[in-house]
Amino acid sequence: MTFENLLVTGGCGFIGSNFIRFLLDREDFTGRIVNFDKLTYAGNPDNLAGVAERYHGRYVFEHGDVCDAGRLEDLFGRYGIDGVCHFAAESHVDRSIRRPESFIHTNILGTFQLLERAKARGSAFRLFHHVSTDEVYGSLGATGLFTEEMPYRPNSPYSASKAASDHLVRAYSETFGLPATISNCSNNYGPYQFPEKLIPLMVLNGLEGKALPVYGDGRNVRDWLYVEDHCEAIWLIMRKGRRGETYNIGGNAEMENIAIVRLICALLDELAPVEGGESRERLITYVADRPGHDRRYAIDFSKLAGELGWRPRQSFAEGLRRTVAWYLANQPWIEGIRTGAYRSWIEEHYGKEA
Ligand code: NAD
Ligand code: TYD
Repeated sequence: MTFENLLVTGGCGFIGSNFIRFLLDREDFTGRIVNFDKLTYAGNPDNLAGVAERYHGRYVFEHGDVCDAGRLEDLFGRYGIDGVCHFAAESHVDRSIRRPESFIHTNILGTFQLLERAKARGSAFRLFHHVSTDEVYGSLGATGLFTEEMPYRPNSPYSASKAASDHLVRAYSETFGLPATISNCSNNYGPYQFPEKLIPLMVLNGLEGKALPVYGDGRNVRDWLYVEDHCEAIWLIMRKGRRGETYNIGGNAEMENIAIVRLICALLDELAPVEGGESRERLITYVADRPGHDRRYAIDFSKLAGELGWRPRQSFAEGLRRTVAWYLANQPWIEGIRTGAYRSWIEEHYGKEA
């Protein structure tokens, strides 16, 4: 299965932009990508710098909100959309604790509006792929893994809103026969991740000599997946996954937060040593824990491995080294965020509301 006009939502974000680059480079995708993005604080046009020029005619950007039914109706008709890969979301747990409302709008209502438009395309529509998170399953104790059969027990407004969107996608598949697949993935890392998430925040703070804030005792565990491995898994599921099914995606890389922060310090000390040779570990600062902080995530991805033969390619050690090296080599991208220049560009082109 392939697509002629694939709508990618949230394509200016971290994973969406990696996915667009990944897909446009593949020989088994010859269609066009329509990237639909609201350009919130997390949407950065610099993430796709040069793509429109390089893939002329195969990549289009459309600015807008997935909650806007009229805008979606226009897009689906005008481009003859035959597939959706849905990334657009409010994605940061800490923000969802402070201000949950936009999470409910974008993640739940936005997914509903997209499903309605996809359904209205009838037999011209091939697949709705919904990109979701392992956080819908809640928190694990010291042992065990999330499987696709586990009940949903989301603990944060973010994961609750993603859980609701997963249920909607499943319901449209069951009730209306909409061809749909869902993937629930562990924590991603890699190039172009906005520096509010653990890994890029620690890299940038470490480079600037700022405190490295570790929540609680630092012993919460996440499973980490290099973003390119995630892109590969999504594309495989879109092409070959069974319709109506959910697939877990994981990196086989469980790590305590404090161990990651120490690894980042060591990499920065090696690749960008401070004068005098002091280690960045001195910047580690334990801070108040996140409310409702899930203790451990770990993924059983044997369904995806068994049915479609997917495995993560990148080891965590190598992936983290590549990631730190990427941030070091892409200072202009960092400066765009640090100075807010990427926002000025968006406001100039799309107005203050963007
Ligand atoms: P991100 O925050 O980097 O990017 C989100 C993108 O969506 C941005 O470009 C933003 O402008 C856009 N957007 C937000 N609201 C929108 C709206 N109303 N209409 C249109 N566009 C809108 O997120 P990410 O880390 O790239 O995550 C992408 C998807 O993957 C999300 O659905 C997230 O839940 C899921 N996911 C993320 C991770 C992770 O570790 N980052 C892990 C598993 C699943
Ligand atoms: P995060 O990157 O926000 O992803 P998620 O909450 O979706 O897993 O956080 C990853 C882990 O790192 C999580 O256990 C919270 C912790 N964390 C810190 O200790 N300090 C920080 O500054 C941040 C952003 C996260």
